[in-house]
Amino acid sequence: TIYQIAVLPGDGIGPDVTVQAIRVLEVIRELDADFDIRFTEFNWNSEYYLEHGSMMPEDGLEQLQAFDAILFGAIGDARVADEISIWQLIMPIRKNFRQYVNMRPIKRLSGIDSPLKNESPVDFVVFRENAEGEYSNIGGRLYQGQPQEMAVQNTIITKTGVERIARYAFDYAQASGRNKVTSATKSNAIIHSMKLWDEAVAEVAADYQGIELESYFIDALAAYFVQRPESFDVVVASNLFGDILTDLGAAIVGGLGVSPSGNINPEREYPSMFEAIHGSAPDIAGKGIANPIAQIWSAALMLDHLGRPDLSTAIVSAIETVLGEGRVRTPDLGGNDTTEQLGTAIAQVVKDQ
Ligand code: NAI
Ligand code: MG
Repeated sequence: TIYQIAVLPGDGIGPDVTVQAIRVLEVIRELDADFDIRFTEFNWNSEYYLEHGSMMPEDGLEQLQAFDAILFGAIGDARVADEISIWQLIMPIRKNFRQYVNMRPIKRLSGIDSPLKNESPVDFVVFRENAEGEYSNIGGRLYQGQPQEMAVQNTIITKTGVERIARYAFDYAQASGRNKVTSATKSNAIIHSMKLWDEAVAEVAADYQGIELESYFIDALAAYFVQRPESFDVVVASNLFGDILTDLGAAIVGGLGVSPSGNINPEREYPSMFEAIHGSAPDIAGKGIANPIAQIWSAALMLDHLGRPDLSTAIVSAIETVLGEGRVRTPDLGGNDTTEQLGTAIAQVVKDQ
């Protein structure tokens, strides 16, 4: 099979880490005669915006639609407002391609310093609702510049929207032999939308014998992430709660530099998109020291989605091998090596496996 991949390197460290991910995928291609992968690059980033006045061409989504998957770097540049780069590029792709599942594994790998005091294994997956919820652009501002100035921003929670993300989380738990799903809520204070969330999640849970549903208020859950992260298997959360929980999850297992994600369209009507959860990291952009692991791991999630879990596992275990050896480390991992050196080390282990 030939897989056609659209590559959007983006801004800042996005291109640096994406080059390393492609490199690892190219090694895989050479190793497996049944696996072919082709890359088509799109330069839709902040530079493109400054030149053309939009983040992508008018038919951008149509161009992407033909691909099997999208590998996305990161977007964000001081010269372009975040609301433009995010709402004109990432959001249209996520929403139009119905990527309503945002999958973010939180796994503690050996060889990475974590702020956790004990050695307990942390290995869970957060499924963040990716299409509705708190990240809606419905709302407005009133009385600007006056003392009574105010803003309203609506949260959209639909029953079908909650059911489909919950079902995905439970299906994943079932398929991967995990026996608990934790739901993040706040229905004590957010009494309309979060009550609907709770009800819809509970209805879905009733269809899964043998998988326990537990539900925590988001504030307590954030504390448990730090106090006993080893107790989680699968977590399901709304768009905002999931966004915050996953950065926290990344922090407890070693940082943004090692945390991958997938924006998934489960029905496969449209391409899914894989990206590190970090942004363009302007503070280290251009220095060649960004950690490429998050992006390489995102490429591994992409292979899994494309039906090659074996190749996905080969990449993740190469990452674990290199981290375990501790020989090559970027500054965020406490070392002095470059993006390129860490990418090279991982590609080499994939080749030797
Ligand atoms: P960020 O994730 O870019 O950086 C936060 C901190 O983590 C920085 O100190 C950075 O150096 C460090 N970091 C991030 N990735 C790293 C890596 N691979 N290796 C080593 N260190 C790494 O978040 P920030 O600073 O809040 O946002 C910067 C820009 O990125 C903004 O314009 C923001 O809107 C955008 N952004 C874009 C995202 C996307 O493309 N999906 C996601 C998050 C932020
Ligand atoms: Mg985020």
